[in-house]
Amino acid sequence: MCWIFAYNGDTDCREKLVNGLRLLEYRGYDSAGIVGVSKKKEIFLEKAVGRVSALASKVDARREDITLYTTGIAHTRWATHGWVTQENTHPHHSSDKRFYIVHNGIIENYKDLKKDLEKSYDFYSETDTEVVAKLIESLYDGNLKSTMEKVSTRLVWAYSLAVVDSQNPGTIVGIKLGSPLIVWTATDGIYISSDVNALSALAETYTLLEDNEMVVIEWKKYSIYMAGKQIERVSEKIDASQVIDELGNFNSFTEKEIFDIPSVLENVFSGRIDFEKKQINNETLEALGDLDIKRICIVSSGSSYYAGDMGCYFFRKFAGIPCQAIISSEFLSDVFLPDDTTLYVFLSQSGETADVRESMKIVKAKGCMTFGVVNVVGSTIARMADHWLYSHAGVEVWVASTKNVIAQVAVLLMMAVSLGLKKDMQITDARDLIAEMADLPDKIQETLMKGPKIKKIAKKYATYKHMFVLGRNYFYPVAGEASLKCKELSYIHCESYSAGELKHGPLALVSKKFPTMVFNPMGKFYAKTISNVQEVAARKGPILGIISSNDTHKELYTDTIELPETSELLSVFTGLVSSYLFALYLAEALDRDVDKPRNLAKSVTVD
Ligand code: G6P
Repeated sequence: MCWIFAYNGDTDCREKLVNGLRLLEYRGYDSAGIVGVSKKKEIFLEKAVGRVSALASKVDARREDITLYTTGIAHTRWATHGWVTQENTHPHHSSDKRFYIVHNGIIENYKDLKKDLEKSYDFYSETDTEVVAKLIESLYDGNLKSTMEKVSTRLVWAYSLAVVDSQNPGTIVGIKLGSPLIVWTATDGIYISSDVNALSALAETYTLLEDNEMVVIEWKKYSIYMAGKQIERVSEKIDASQVIDELGNFNSFTEKEIFDIPSVLENVFSGRIDFEKKQINNETLEALGDLDIKRICIVSSGSSYYAGDMGCYFFRKFAGIPCQAIISSEFLSDVFLPDDTTLYVFLSQSGETADVRESMKIVKAKGCMTFGVVNVVGSTIARMADHWLYSHAGVEVWVASTKNVIAQVAVLLMMAVSLGLKKDMQITDARDLIAEMADLPDKIQETLMKGPKIKKIAKKYATYKHMFVLGRNYFYPVAGEASLKCKELSYIHCESYSAGELKHGPLALVSKKFPTMVFNPMGKFYAKTISNVQEVAARKGPILGIISSNDTHKELYTDTIELPETSELLSVFTGLVSSYLFALYLAEALDRDVDKPRNLAKSVTVD
């Protein structure tokens, strides 16, 4: 979502703040702003609608200003309250322009607060953040820390924020409730950030604030407080692997992340599967079998939801355990019926998605078993889970999740096999599957080699306005994920259906101008899906088949992407990767900004 960055030290903050924002612009890129305060209480404020580069140009245009602004806060915005305008861009200020604030999250009771504050102050923006700035002004008691303690008791719901008092340069107060906030000491000063991801270029260790904690920076030193009392915290090491790579020869970071998938899979399996002995070799996975699990419930959002749904097919098939994937916002909207024998799995790349985090809190409050599958090391969901496995996809910062989905699906497959082996799965079947998994990175590599052909096909499909994506069994959630990827990257309207549902309504739309993408590798349901392909062909709908090379009905398809030879199950992975390339090239053909699709953000920390 939004991204907070702050600095206090001896040197000028402006370039540091802009570079910090640039590094993590994926958190939101509607608009950006900084404010700096000098030791003599001079203020430097700059905001820009659009990308951080627009802000950087504006800051750069003022380089003749050689004042040292040694304390500053910065923000990139993903609009929630109010449209993307200069007025709504952070930092926001009090009416006397003494206090400046940046904020990540939502203040649920901002309307009530505003109604009250409007009696004394004029408002210039539509944001909930400006309300907090005015609240600080109204409650100021001569000390920013104690004022912020009062302010935080008035704010409802999850947020993190950072505030500067221009009359007390050298002081920054940060508060964390829900949305992450970290602080660290560098050689040039103290920094605050709302994300640990990819910070290894800036710091070696960091301190993560817990909910309701406050950090107070005063002249290059910081202290952490909880309920007004100072507390001690041990710093944690930043995971050195969490580095954003250079673009290299790729056209976009998204493309690079897709081409990372073979090595991601090697990381996912490493230390968890002994390919020589053809067995699972990991404590967490093996311990799963000791739990009394009668049912599994996977809670997640976006691409992680589809990965979870794929996992459900694995748990049912290999472990014989009923499993249901639930969209986290729906989990929160429904009645929760706690069950001691259900394993609640929370799947999240960022480990910070608000709805997933809040769902997990509900489950934990009832004492039920929780398991996290998370990519970002040390993230909230990983810290809250009773048991967890990292998806080890490396830094994935570009909005469309690709390599992490593959890693999540691989982790869920290992969990299912591990649980299956403690139940009825035949050891020989597990060994055959593990032997095949050893070749998966090479099979993905083979799929990636088909890039030029997929690009050609995508160019053709970029001329359509709509598309259906179909699949059955494992390939039903695969179709869902492929459809999501196509729409978020290319903005073409795509809808996914279980292939068997086509005739119950969607078929009405199929025509020469309405193509259908079908996942139908050879397997148990091949013939059934072929009937659906025939239904589309009979209505003259163009059909893109993602199929096996030994498919016996190739003539039915307008275009085909042939998958490398694998079992039906493992073509889930190669099928997904083909669809990622297709979505990417579809977007490129339409000249979309694939790394930063409009209106989206990587990590959704608001509900
Ligand atoms: C956002 C991202 C998606 C992601 C979803 C869930 O919508 O754009 O790519 O799948 O959040 O995120 P999570 O971090 O919980 O997996």
